[in-house]
Amino acid sequence: MFITFEGPDGCGKSTILEEVYKNLMNLDVPVIKTREPGGTRISEKLRNIILDEDNKELTAVTESLLMAASRSQHVEELIIPAINEKKIVLCDRFVISSLVYQGYARDLGIDKILKLNEFATLGIKPDMILFFDVSEKNLLDRRKKRNTSDRLEKEKVDFHKRVYKGYNYIKEKFQEDDNFHIVDANKGISEITSYCISIILDNYRRKK
Ligand code: TMP
Repeated sequence: MFITFEGPDGCGKSTILEEVYKNLMNLDVPVIKTREPGGTRISEKLRNIILDEDNKELTAVTESLLMAASRSQHVEELIIPAINEKKIVLCDRFVISSLVYQGYARDLGIDKILKLNEFATLGIKPDMILFFDVSEKNLLDRRKKRNTSDRLEKEKVDFHKRVYKGYNYIKEKFQEDDNFHIVDANKGISEITSYCISIILDNYRRKK
């Protein structure tokens, strides 16, 4: 089962992914965790190029292609083999992130980025997309407490506003899809973790 965690920087998805991972390990469920951009040796190298704050001249199109290249390597080398071994794959970000950041916030167009990613992912789709829905106020409060360290996190406030709008646009567009699950990320860590585990195990048992 392939499960992706999506949401803006500071929504809490990486913390929850870690909690879900630990809980599933304790239940002896076969599970791995990974992230994008990154997840394999080559994809992590691409991640370093993408997030390096010295790479200020990186164009939007190049950024979208590097994201897709990182994803493609990740899908073939790690995600597909793990799915074939019947593991649950927890992935921090996937195609939705490219639709929002490159398609919407960088204004390259959602449809164009969707097509690029169909090619990059060999057509595989997540069985579950956990969409972390958080109020803009909570997001800003949480982000103030973090050290902003990479090129994308250091983008101007305006860019992050567009990212937030992009997530809302994507929510409207995909919320009726069977694999799209909205997670109320305004709640506390333990409540969000329990909710995610219950819907994951529900789906897992139905698929088994
Ligand atoms: P992370 O901080 O969640 O590890 O993600 C790194 C940054 O990369 C984050 O600001 C979101 C951005 N990103 C994109 O712009 N497009 C993508 O396709 C992915 C996977 C991440």
